[in-house]
Amino acid sequence: MTRRLQERLLAIMDRKNHWAWAHLTGPGLTRDQLAVHFRHEYRVYVRDFPVLLARVLGQSPPAAVRSALAENLFEEQTGKLSLGVSHPELFLEMIDGLGIPRAAIEDESLPLEPEAHAYRTLLDRASAAPPWVVGAAVLTIFVEGSVHERAELLGQREAPPIEEALRAHPMVRHYGCPPERMRLARAHRAVEGGHRRDAWEMVLGHAPDEGPTADAVASAVAAAHAAWLAYRDGVARAMGLRQA
Ligand SMILES: [Fe+2]
Ligand SMILES: [Fe+2]
Repeated sequence: MTRRLQERLLAIMDRKNHWAWAHLTGPGLTRDQLAVHFRHEYRVYVRDFPVLLARVLGQSPPAAVRSALAENLFEEQTGKLSLGVSHPELFLEMIDGLGIPRAAIEDESLPLEPEAHAYRTLLDRASAAPPWVVGAAVLTIFVEGSVHERAELLGQREAPPIEEALRAHPMVRHYGCPPERMRLARAHRAVEGGHRRDAWEMVLGHAPDEGPTADAVASAVAAAHAAWLAYRDGVARAMGLRQA
């Protein structure tokens, strides 16, 4: 039986999709369009994800939660539980594989859309302000999680073998990224199942099912979802995409 708070959060995750995703997983984008997308992802949350997790850890959650957060951030920042390379660096390896100069992604002087700044501000606030369980929910359930959260929890999502998944990845299939530059997907395959499990345990194990904390968690995740949708609208606009 699904707990009430879990159901509230899953109902939000069920809607973590955006119309521009069909463009990003299909052929036909230019390198410049891809660079706009990846620059935003990198600078809004990929590069600093370990730091955002560290802020939640810095709020002194209970011991079991400290371990889960420390393990997640150790892997994200060092990769030493999987391939020995940090996830932000693995992300840049994929950029190399796409033939996009790293400067087009990393250069701080290149602008981000206003909604990207707004989404990042929300992530900065949620990670730094108590209660820690709100920051943990926003980062580990919403940011790290996907629209497939419910199916994954129900064990209904079967991933193809990793080599097959890499060959089928849109960046490999449509944009010529060599599969060996997709080690980020390999690292995620190795550790992300554990991060998903830890995420739900941290939040559901420490937020009562009803009451002010549960409401704070649910409304922070709803606010993150709204800010993310606006952010994705902004990136789609900057890429010159139009909703069909
Ligand atoms: Fe990661
Ligand atoms: Fe992770």
